Amino acid sequence: MTSKIAILGAGPSGLAQLRAFEAARKAGLEEIPDIVCYEKQPDWGGMWNYTWRTGLDENGEPVHASMYRYLWSNGPKECLEFADYSFEEHFGRPIPSYPPRAVLLDYIMGRVAKSDVRKYIRFNTAVRWVDWSDETQKFTVTVADHERDVLESEEFDHVVVATGHFSTPNAPHFDGLDRFPGRVLHAHDFRDAREFTGKRLLLVGSSYSAEDIGTQCIKYGAEQVTFSYRTAPMGHDWPEQFSEVPLLTHVEGNTAHFQDGSSREVDAIVLCTGYKHHFPFLPDHLTLRTRNRLYPRNIYKGIFFQDNPRLMYLGMQDQYFTFNMFDAQAWYARDVMLGRIALPDFETREKDIDLWSSREEALSSPSEDIDFQAAYIRDLVDRTDYPEFHVERQAEVFKQWKKDKKRDIMGYRNHSYASTLTGTVAPPLPAPWMEILDDSPESFLRHDFTSGGTAREAAAPGRTLDRNRVPSARRAGRTAAPRTLSGKA
Ligand SMILES: Cc1cc2nc3c(=O)[nH]c(=O)nc-3n(C[C@H](O)[C@H](O)[C@H](O)COP(=O)(O)OP(=O)(O)OC[C@H]3O[C@@H](n4cnc5c(N)ncnc54)[C@H](O)[C@@H]3O)c2cc1C
Ligand SMILES: NC(=O)c1ccc[n+]([C@@H]2O[C@H](COP(=O)([O-])OP(=O)(O)OC[C@H]3O[C@@H](n4cnc5c(N)ncnc54)[C@H](OP(=O)(O)O)[C@@H]3O)[C@@H](O)[C@H]2O)c1
Repeated sequence: MTSKIAILGAGPSGLAQLRAFEAARKAGLEEIPDIVCYEKQPDWGGMWNYTWRTGLDENGEPVHASMYRYLWSNGPKECLEFADYSFEEHFGRPIPSYPPRAVLLDYIMGRVAKSDVRKYIRFNTAVRWVDWSDETQKFTVTVADHERDVLESEEFDHVVVATGHFSTPNAPHFDGLDRFPGRVLHAHDFRDAREFTGKRLLLVGSSYSAEDIGTQCIKYGAEQVTFSYRTAPMGHDWPEQFSEVPLLTHVEGNTAHFQDGSSREVDAIVLCTGYKHHFPFLPDHLTLRTRNRLYPRNIYKGIFFQDNPRLMYLGMQDQYFTFNMFDAQAWYARDVMLGRIALPDFETREKDIDLWSSREEALSSPSEDIDFQAAYIRDLVDRTDYPEFHVERQAEVFKQWKKDKKRDIMGYRNHSYASTLTGTVAPPLPAPWMEILDDSPESFLRHDFTSGGTAREAAAPGRTLDRNRVPSARRAGRTAAPRTLSGKA
């Protein structure tokens, strides 16, 4: 009998799972399982769909998106490239290494649009509950179909959870926040940096959200950014508008107080304090409990829930690698579901988890983290027919990215890297990233990108910014007519 598979979520991970089956079909697999993918948003793309909404969406579901306007990739696209679909193939020409969000979304969706998988997805359909029956050996998935306004249940042999883990805010309380006269929000609800033009911002947290929201707010004219760290400062050589202080202790009126006894006046506070893995549709006995880490425990090969391996999780790791890691997982999960790979017994799986976990615990630098995640991906791809890609070379690009960030946090996106698929070195951005205010795909892709780009170091030559004070394009008086990439207003 044909097995039935439920995929929860149509973001990059869920789409990878759909494409993995599609690839098998194209390679001659005759008996394709019955697949249903449930997606609560009206379209595919997951986190990459921008919305102005915060709080609840049009169906009363928690808004999934944490991405904001003017978000650009924070890692080189050369490290995200799908093994079977290069950026050059998609855009018909080379593009710079750091594209804006909408351009990356176009790339992700380009590959999936060419396959025949949309038919499997039920949009505007939120998963409400999943349960397992020992008796029938099946899962029952209950969903709210918002188009027909009904609750429905269906049985499945396998469930793949691909609902992401950067949507439910981890939002600690600090005394006085309830009386703070300005805006207090979590990064999940941050949408438009222009809201903070001319403002003094306090960002709590010292990871990617803090760094990116802080630099972006200065780009769009914020007056001052203070980062408050819990464990360690980011330690970049920040221009003078930025400073890093120890953890916030409390707030009195507009004054924020910190652990080192210092204080300062701020106009708005953004909690960049990360996210929680949150699965409100799963009972305790099926729930993955983990913090944001490279090797969450209790999932064999980073995928199969230890207590019931017919339940799979994709993309639950902390992420250097993203799209190609999700592919590697999806191809492996597919082969297990198709019976091509046999899962070992509980103890053998547990030993494997222990091995990877202890390797993870011994990691002591970002370079080691990157190599660890590359090794994890290698372990998966070598066991399936996922096309060969140079994950170790991509790891080297990530390490160079780390160095470039360390050297120039405001200018690292001006660098170019070589594709490990095509060998092409990306052309430079037509202007330093800090000067490009219009990030629309129309503006970005209008540029012909032919003016150079022969080496990573050569990117945007002669355009190094004055590192002491960032000349925000907004502050420099271009507020009325943002510069487009073609140079036209
Ligand atoms: C602010 C921010 C910036 C980022 N920038 C980058 C970047 O530059 N480069 C990069 O590679 N990665 C970036 N990431 C990481 C990003 O999360 C991944 O690229 C990718 O989106 C993860 O894919 P996913 O499919 O696992 O999860 P998601 O993209 O989060 O997709 C999950 C899907 O599940 C759906 N869903 C959730 N709950 C339910 C439910 N109950 N019922 C039905 N459907 C449900 C959601 O609507 C969504 O479509 C960023 C993340 C954040 C938060
Ligand atoms: N442009 C982009 O592409 C972009 C932009 C933003 C985010 N992202 C992505 O989004 C994902 C999530 O990044 P993130 O920065 O939101 O989360 P994160 O990497 O998990 O970092 C969470 C931060 O919050 C701090 N924190 C947690 N609890 C705290 C508490 N109680 N008090 C004070 N500080 C606390 C942590 O400090 P400790 O160090 O002490 O634990 C850490 O600095 C990443 O994958 C990132 O790549 C991408």
